[in-house]
Amino acid sequence: MATYDTYYLEENYFGKPYKELIKFFSQYEPKGSVLDLGCGQGRDSIEIAKLGYSVTGIDISKVGIEQLNLKAKDLNLKLTGFVDDIYKFNRISEYDVILLDSMFHFYSKDKKKETEFLKSILEQMQKGSILCNLLMKSNKNEKHLKSIVGNFDSEFEVLFDDYAVYPEANCEYHMYVIKKI
Ligand SMILES: C[S@@+](CC[C@H](N)C(=O)[O-])C[C@H]1O[C@@H](n2cnc3c(N)ncnc32)[C@H](O)[C@@H]1O
Repeated sequence: MATYDTYYLEENYFGKPYKELIKFFSQYEPKGSVLDLGCGQGRDSIEIAKLGYSVTGIDISKVGIEQLNLKAKDLNLKLTGFVDDIYKFNRISEYDVILLDSMFHFYSKDKKKETEFLKSILEQMQKGSILCNLLMKSNKNEKHLKSIVGNFDSEFEVLFDDYAVYPEANCEYHMYVIKKI
């Protein structure tokens, strides 16, 4: 049983998606394919699919993915969820948008693994595709994230670099959107 299976017995465990995220996705063109890595119950995936994107969600929680797929069917969305380990997922290059919401924390025990994973995503991304990452506000972690991108071999254009408000948790998330050029 995955850790989040129990949490997801509560509907919309993480609440609503950030307004800033939805605004960005509403305005962004083209409304192509989105890969939501660690999609949970589909807090973001569902709203993004409603905007016309074709969304694939991956999560290790079977409970979350079952709920997401039921909602996608009910609402007739172009959204499918799969139970899988995101660290083993190697089809990043097939997507126009890679979304990671609250997936990186850079705690010392996970920092190396997460850093390598982020680098592998940046490597696999096609030119023109974008990465949207949401990280709990932290100067240190934002600096680390930006240093990985800045020191990477490919060039990226920054499309969004600001905070998104998370009212449910009374905090802010750093939203960083970059495009591979
Ligand atoms: C903090 S929650 C964020 C969920 C979602 N992104 C959101 O913002 O609503 C973290 C999610 O990552 C999933 N997860 C953690 N490690 C994973 C892994 N290795 N592979 C797939 N999913 C994973 C958990 O099951 C959980 O749903």
